[in-house]
Amino acid sequence: MAETEESSWVYKNRDAPVEARVKDLLSRMTLPEKIGQMTQIERSVASPQVITNSFIGSVQSGAGSWPLEDAKSSDWADMIDGFQRSALASRLGIPIIYGTDAVHGNNNVYGATVFPHNIGLGATRDADLVKRIGAATALEIRASGVHWTFAPCVAVLGDPRWGRCYESYSEAAKIVCEMSLLISGLQGEPPEEHPYGYPFLAGRNNVIACAKHFVGDGGTEKGLSEGNTITSYEDLEKIHVAPYLNCIAQGVSTVMASFSSWNGSRLHSDYFLLTEVLKQKLGFKGFLVSDWDGLETISEPEGSNYRNCVKLGINAGIDMVMVPFKYEQFIQDMTDLVESGEIPMARVNDAVERILRVKFVAGLFEHPLADRSLLGTVGCKEHREVAREAVRKSLVLLKNGKNADTPFLPLDRNAKRILVVGMHANDLGNQCGGWTKIKSGQSGRITIGTTLLDSIKAAVGDKTEVIFEKTPTKETLASSDGFSYAIVAVGEPPYAEMKGDNSELTIPFNGNNIITAVAEKIPTLVILFSGRPMVLEPTVLEKTEALVAAWFPGTEGQGMSDVIFGDYDFKGKLPVSWFKRVDQLPLNAEANSYDPLFPLGFGLTSNFG
Ligand code: GLC
Repeated sequence: MAETEESSWVYKNRDAPVEARVKDLLSRMTLPEKIGQMTQIERSVASPQVITNSFIGSVQSGAGSWPLEDAKSSDWADMIDGFQRSALASRLGIPIIYGTDAVHGNNNVYGATVFPHNIGLGATRDADLVKRIGAATALEIRASGVHWTFAPCVAVLGDPRWGRCYESYSEAAKIVCEMSLLISGLQGEPPEEHPYGYPFLAGRNNVIACAKHFVGDGGTEKGLSEGNTITSYEDLEKIHVAPYLNCIAQGVSTVMASFSSWNGSRLHSDYFLLTEVLKQKLGFKGFLVSDWDGLETISEPEGSNYRNCVKLGINAGIDMVMVPFKYEQFIQDMTDLVESGEIPMARVNDAVERILRVKFVAGLFEHPLADRSLLGTVGCKEHREVAREAVRKSLVLLKNGKNADTPFLPLDRNAKRILVVGMHANDLGNQCGGWTKIKSGQSGRITIGTTLLDSIKAAVGDKTEVIFEKTPTKETLASSDGFSYAIVAVGEPPYAEMKGDNSELTIPFNGNNIITAVAEKIPTLVILFSGRPMVLEPTVLEKTEALVAAWFPGTEGQGMSDVIFGDYDFKGKLPVSWFKRVDQLPLNAEANSYDPLFPLGFGLTSNFG
């Protein structure tokens, strides 16, 4: 083909309207090229040959799937640019879109700023702050060469026994709707005239977002991950669909289908919800991606008839399939199904149009490679300050002294001798929680950041002696009268998804007993690190002087010392009801039997600063 003729092709013309570019490119594509665009593979099976020869449309990193251990952003950019060059070498040169779970900062990457998890952001009630977090996160994601993040999770939490509780902003749909403003930070804010429902991306400093998991993921019975949400359509729409209206109004470019079911119908094959509701009623014009191997959730037992899963999922409205490994089988089944007419070509064309639309809107044809000028933003002071502000505002003060007249906080930063105990006092990984470095998270000094203990030592006077014990020893407790006060930092270890499903919700590692043992001897502040409310034994409430819910605050521990020593006030409000006993669950603020220990919206304020 003459060079001049090719360059005249409309889809290669950056000044042509997006829809004209989509139409032109689609008209030039073969069936294998179309099916390739609908295929997302995991980086570990992505090779130049596979990407070029199978016309792969997307590559992703499963959480913890890095180019190398403690890979820096530049290592990620090298890897992704390598994949991209393979895609550009294909016949039509359609760039890949690379996605990853950057759900509280670019959390897979060593040295990136890690922000509080969503439940902590819900406690801030500060949508503008969440938008600023989105903008900062977008820069750090693009610095690593990634184009697309599988965030935000806009689940409306129904039951804290759910292992993904901390990925939800709140049990209140209204709060989730407000916090979805993260999308405008991630993607940039669309102009007034932007067509409703159309994907949007402001530019190279922004990243494609993904509202997930559509729909009802947070409302499953007993909070079982990937379980069944049993509710009327009216309530599903009022509670779980509501946040998607805000997301689509912001031009969210992608949506991810939920592993869960609605009244027994698997979301991944539910035509009514995926097509009639999301695409037709709500007017979503980006693309719908399956969850990880999500087509397998369609048939029980899993994988018994993958070809049938593909047919049901694609015909229901899935546009791109996060395969992520058995792409040959997916491509083969898709080819058979289209050639047999079981999947109409019109459905394939609709899916590919949506995918191409997002890629053109994202500017991937013009700027397919990483912008290395952004590398300096990774973990930069400005971003860490935003994260520190978020930590401050996310802390919820549940108790402060025996009564309002005798507040225990702020702590005396010039006290003679203080005791700090607990497995969360000096552990960055425990502070960050799941979806950090690897999917389930990891204890230890896993990245760059400041632990609670680091921040306490930096905040107290140079004459103050700080004694740290992960587990308080008998000797220390025996000599307890030497301490002015104690800070006990306990809670949940990192976890993710169904590994976090928990019907007991007691503070792990003997947390309640550690609190009681210390509080019986020394005036004590408890800081609870968790993805959700936990059982607080009556003795804990009686014997401790003060109690703070810190959720999973991320890398910027100074945000906690800023508040407990009084430089800033407590402002956090519970985004979720705090139960007395797990047999009360699910707790519903609208129900007559609502009898929480601390209600939704509770949070003592302080006037320190
Ligand atoms: C997971 C999660 C989803 C995530 C995806 C890719 O199973 O359900 O939230 O984005 O797989 O890692």
